Amino acid sequence: MKILIHLLVLLSFSLNSLGQNNTVRERVSLDLNWKFLQQESKGAEQPNFNDHEWRTLNVPHDWSIEGEYKQDNSSGTMGAFLPGGIGWYRKQIEIKNFKKSEKYFIEFDGVYLNSDVWVNGHHLGFHPNGYMSFSYDLSPYLKEGNNTLAVRVDHSKIPSGRWYTGSGIYRHVWLTKTEDIYVPKSGTYIITDNFLDNQATVKVQTTLVNESGKSKKVIVKNSIRDHKGTIVKEVSEKVLLKKNTTVLLQDCDIKNPQLWSSATPVMYTMITEVIVNKKVKDHYETPFGIRNIEWRSKEGLFVNGEAVIIKGLSNHQDAGGAVGVAVPDDVLYRRLKMLKEMGCNALRTAHHPFAPEFYTMCDTMGFMVMDEAFDGWWTAKAPYDYGNYFDEYWEKDLEGLLKRDRNHPSVIIWSIGNEVRKFTAEQQKIVVDKVKSIDPTRPVTQGGGYIAPHIDISGFNGHGELKNELEKYHSEYPEKLIIGTEITHTLQTRGIYRTKTWYRTKDNPAPWEKPADFARIEKKVTKIPDLSEEEVFTGISKKYQSSYDNSIVRIGVRDEWKRVEALDYYVGNFRWTGFDYLGESFGWPGRTANFGIIDLAGFPKDHFYLYQSLWSNKPMVHLLPHWSHKGKEGVEIPVVIYTNCQSAELFLNNTSLGEKTMTTDGQLVWNVPYEKGTIKAVAKNDGIVVAEKFFTTVDKGTQLTLSSDKTLIYANNKDIIHCEISITDKYKNLDPNAQSSVEYEVLGPAKIIGSENGNILDISSNSTNFRNVFNGKCLLIIQATDKTGEITIKVKSTDLQPAILTVRAIDYIK
Ligand code: GAL
Repeated sequence: MKILIHLLVLLSFSLNSLGQNNTVRERVSLDLNWKFLQQESKGAEQPNFNDHEWRTLNVPHDWSIEGEYKQDNSSGTMGAFLPGGIGWYRKQIEIKNFKKSEKYFIEFDGVYLNSDVWVNGHHLGFHPNGYMSFSYDLSPYLKEGNNTLAVRVDHSKIPSGRWYTGSGIYRHVWLTKTEDIYVPKSGTYIITDNFLDNQATVKVQTTLVNESGKSKKVIVKNSIRDHKGTIVKEVSEKVLLKKNTTVLLQDCDIKNPQLWSSATPVMYTMITEVIVNKKVKDHYETPFGIRNIEWRSKEGLFVNGEAVIIKGLSNHQDAGGAVGVAVPDDVLYRRLKMLKEMGCNALRTAHHPFAPEFYTMCDTMGFMVMDEAFDGWWTAKAPYDYGNYFDEYWEKDLEGLLKRDRNHPSVIIWSIGNEVRKFTAEQQKIVVDKVKSIDPTRPVTQGGGYIAPHIDISGFNGHGELKNELEKYHSEYPEKLIIGTEITHTLQTRGIYRTKTWYRTKDNPAPWEKPADFARIEKKVTKIPDLSEEEVFTGISKKYQSSYDNSIVRIGVRDEWKRVEALDYYVGNFRWTGFDYLGESFGWPGRTANFGIIDLAGFPKDHFYLYQSLWSNKPMVHLLPHWSHKGKEGVEIPVVIYTNCQSAELFLNNTSLGEKTMTTDGQLVWNVPYEKGTIKAVAKNDGIVVAEKFFTTVDKGTQLTLSSDKTLIYANNKDIIHCEISITDKYKNLDPNAQSSVEYEVLGPAKIIGSENGNILDISSNSTNFRNVFNGKCLLIIQATDKTGEITIKVKSTDLQPAILTVRAIDYIK
C-alpha cells in the first residue's frame, strides 16, 4: 500500500504548482486532459491546430481495447483481432514564471508505438519501441503560459507483436522541472557490496549535469534513509563541476543493514542533494534495497545466504479486455497481490520491459524480477515488430532500460531475448557485453538462449519441459545453472472440466502445430493418467481447456515441480503464464489461448490453488470441480483436493468419504457418485483441521450478487473499484454454470472503464453496458473522477433479483 500512497503524493501536485518553487526539482503527472483523435490529422503538431472537436481523455489510454473484435482485423490471432491505426494526442501545459535557466523534461513511461512528439511545433523525436520509457528535453522550446504538446502514434502496420500490444499513450506521462545543475533521469546507480560482519557497503555513482555555462563548485550530499524515515548514513563531497557531465563515486558503509528479499522486502532511499552556496539546487531520491544475491554454480540461487527456489510466472502486460494495456495502478496492484497470496516469488516481464510502477511494486511487495528486454533481435518475429528497427535502436533502448531499472532490488536477472530467431553467438556476445557495460552486477539469461555460450544462466523455454533435456544439458555443461524461463505450459479455462488428459499438440493443436507432431515428442512427454475411463464431461467446446491438472503441452505442473525440487542446478522456473493475456489465440473468435492460471478478469482458476499448495506455507485447501452438475446424478465424478497440509478429508452432505494423506503426487482424488448438496474438503495438520472449503449445488441461480474490493475511494481520477458480479442462490452460493447477460449502470462520480468475464470466446464490445457472466462471474472496472460523492452500482438481468452496491468517493489531499 505504501507505494500507492507514494504515487498519490506525487500526483497531488497540480501542474500549476510548477514555477512556484524555483529552487528544487518537481515532478508532476501529465496524465489528465489530453485531446485525442483516432485518425491521421495533418498539421496537428502545430500549436494553432483546432482540436476542439477531439475527444478529451486521460492517459493511460489504449485505443485498441476500445475497438471491436473483428475477424478481418489484421492483428489476427496474434493481436486478439483488435484494431490498430493512427492516433493523435494533444495537450496544453501551462508554465508559470518560466525561466530560461530552468530545465523541463517530458517523460513517457511507454507509448505503443512509433511515436513522434512535438512541443510548440518543434519535433522532439521519433521513438519506435512501444515498451521502453523515453524522455525529451522541452526547455529550449517552452515559453511562459500555454505550451502545446502533440504526439502522433502510428500503429497502422499490424501485427506488430506476437501478442496483444494495444495502441496509444498507454502508460503514465510526467513533467520534471530542475535547475540547470541537476541529476539527470536515472542519474544514480547504486550497488550494494561487501557483506561482511553485519555490514554492507553501498556504492553510489551520481551523475551530475551542469548546464549553467560556468564551472561551479558544488557539494554533493548522499544520505541514506531507512524504511522508518531515519537517516542512517550521510556522505558529502566537494566537487568542481566543470564539464557538462560529471560522475561522482561514493561509498557508504551501513552497519546491520536490513536486507531485502522477496519475503522481507525492506527498502532504503538514497537522497542526493546538490548544494551550491548553501542552497539546495537539486534533490533527487532513489529507492533501493540491500541484498546479497549469489548464483552458485551447481548449487542454485542464494539470497542473503539462503537457498531460494524461483517460484515464478511469466506474464504479458495487459490486464484483460476491460483495460487492455492501459492498466491502472490499482489494477496492477490487485493482480500482484493475488500472486503474492499464491506464494509466487518471481515474475518475468514477457517479452519486453514493463511500466515503471511494476518494478516499484515488485520492490515493495517482494517479487524477484527477470527483466526482459526483447522478444527477437535483428530478425522480426511478427511482420511489423521491433525487429524492423532493432539494428538502429537496440543499443540506446537497452541502455535506457538498464539505467531505468538497475537500482531496483527486485530485478535480479536480465533477459536479453526470447526464442530469438536466427541469431549467432557473436550477436549474443554483443548484446551481453552491452548489458555488462551498464550493469556488471546481475547475470544475463535469454529465453531458450542456452544454445549459445555467452549468457550466464541457461534459460530454457518449452523445450526444457521434455524428459531429460535439462539433465542432458547439465551433463554437458555442469558448471552452468539452469533457469526455466518459460516452464510449465499448461492450459485451463475457469469452470471447465474434462476427466481425460489432453495433450495440446494432439488434442487441441496451436495454429503452428499439426496433430501428427505429437508422435515426434510423445516419448519425451511426461504423461498424466486419465481421471476416468470414459469422459465424464462431454459436449464441451474444443476451444476450452480442462481445469483439472490434465491439459498439458509437455509436462504437468505437479511433475514439473518435482523436477525443480530435485535438481539443485535448476534454480526454478517462470510458468507460462500467470494471467491469461490477450492475443496468441488458437483462432477466431478466441481472444487468448488460456495459458493463465488466472483468467482475463483476474478470477483464479483451479491451477491458482494448485500452485498455492506447492508454493505457499500458509495452510490451505482447495477442491474441484464445483458441485452443480445437473443430469449427472449417480455418475462418478473425480473430486480432487489440493492442499499443503498433511492430510485431507472429503465430506458429501456431512458424510465422510474418507481421509487421505498427502503424497508427493500433489493431489488427492476421490471418485464420488454425484448427488446434490454440499461437498466439503477439510485439511489437517497433526490431526487438527486448519483449512476448509466447500461447494453447494446451485441448479439455477436466482439473484445477482455484487461485491467490491473497496467501499471508499479517492476522487483523484485514478482509484479503481473492482466490482465482481456473480449469479448465485439466495445464500450467495455461486451458480457455476450461469451464462446470463447482465446490464450494469454506475451513478454518481465514477466511470466504468470496462468489463471482463474471462471467456476467451466472448468478443462483445467494451463500449456496451451489458455483458454475459461466464461460468457465473463477471468483473466491472470502475474509476474515480475528480468529484466526491456516493457511487451507486446497479446490475439487473432477466429472471434474476437485481443488486445494488454503493461506494463513496472522498477528497484525498487538502
Ligand atoms: C513460447 C513463446 C511465448 C508463447 C508460448 C506459447 O514459445 O516464447 O511467447 O508464444 O510459446 O506456447
